[in-house]
Amino acid sequence: MIILAIETSCDDTGIAIIKVNEKKLSKIKVLSNLISSQVKIHQKYGGVYPSLAKREHQKNLPILFEKSKKEAKDPKIDLIAVTVGPGLDPCLWVGVNFAKDLAKNLGLPLLSINHIKAHIYANFLDFKSEKQLKDIFPAIYLIVSGGHTQLIFVKDFGHYKFLGETRDDAAGECFDKIGRMLGLGYPGGPPIEREAAKFKAKDSKFKVNLPRPMMHQKNYDFSFSGLKTAALYDYKERKPEIRKSKEYIRAISAETQQAIIDVLVKKTIKAAKEYKAKTVILGGGVIANRELRKQLKAKIKKDLPNTEYLSPDIKLSTDNALMIAITAYYQWLTEGSALSDDWKKVSVNANLRIEK
Ligand code: KG4
Ligand code: ZN
Repeated sequence: MIILAIETSCDDTGIAIIKVNEKKLSKIKVLSNLISSQVKIHQKYGGVYPSLAKREHQKNLPILFEKSKKEAKDPKIDLIAVTVGPGLDPCLWVGVNFAKDLAKNLGLPLLSINHIKAHIYANFLDFKSEKQLKDIFPAIYLIVSGGHTQLIFVKDFGHYKFLGETRDDAAGECFDKIGRMLGLGYPGGPPIEREAAKFKAKDSKFKVNLPRPMMHQKNYDFSFSGLKTAALYDYKERKPEIRKSKEYIRAISAETQQAIIDVLVKKTIKAAKEYKAKTVILGGGVIANRELRKQLKAKIKKDLPNTEYLSPDIKLSTDNALMIAITAYYQWLTEGSALSDDWKKVSVNANLRIEK
């Protein structure tokens, strides 16, 4: 079976085509996975500008579609999948309308895909059997992106229990806002990671101390807006020439990154312990952060030696259509043709959540 997937929930336009065994879980063959990033366009605004993003998706989608078909050697598509939420409403509609037209014209089933779920399913790309999948549960999912920071307990495949989420800003949003303040451009996560890597505590003139919000609270909720405000205060208290200095930018970047990592690691380990998780599974753009991966992996190894750790390929951490295609495959396998949504009924839900 050939699945074509479309992703337009934020500022990346993505199309992927995969070949799968429709009867039982087997290795996925990626025929094409294309992404067109709008980062350069949105950098000017320091964030994603929805109407501009919508226009770019409209421009890019048909081009990517032709390119991906060519790359995949014009395969006969059997199923179409599209992100229906969560995300930016005008952007989601571009992908959904494109997918509906295709489904209608080709007479194909259309699957609605949840973007948050897809970030987790990115981890399953190389799974080869049902057993391999089943063996990872019970699991704790940590989802950290530009729009979400959530902890979810998954007792068995598809059985979710929501543990907590951010009460204000998402971790990625915090990276982005502090990055913008420091003049590092959008998105803020990658340059903050780069600057932080250059920081040497013992040689630095600067010591920046930022809070670890809600880290010691018993619940699984997060809050990152106070961290952003604390960074802003620190920044404003510095002399203008200091603010622009490499050394200060490195020091505040390292502390921002570490504060976010400390909170995420602490709460994830706590959840994994409480729910006796066999695996901790990571997903979302912030998971591209190498220091976060490294520290979480080390902490799991030390505190929970019997717990495995699963993170997607760095390139599959941020938004892409391959994760949408993988999710469609799993949805198809578990719920089968009952899921072959009538394209007429498919709609956008900008606030879609993982079902509780
Ligand atoms: O999942 P994603 O691509 O889009 C959303 O669904 O939000 O996540 C984007 C977020 C941005 O906030 C970006 O700053 C963050 O992921 N991000 C990172 C890194 N790469 C992307 N944050 C920290 N370190 C990174 N290396
Ligand atoms: Zn995302």
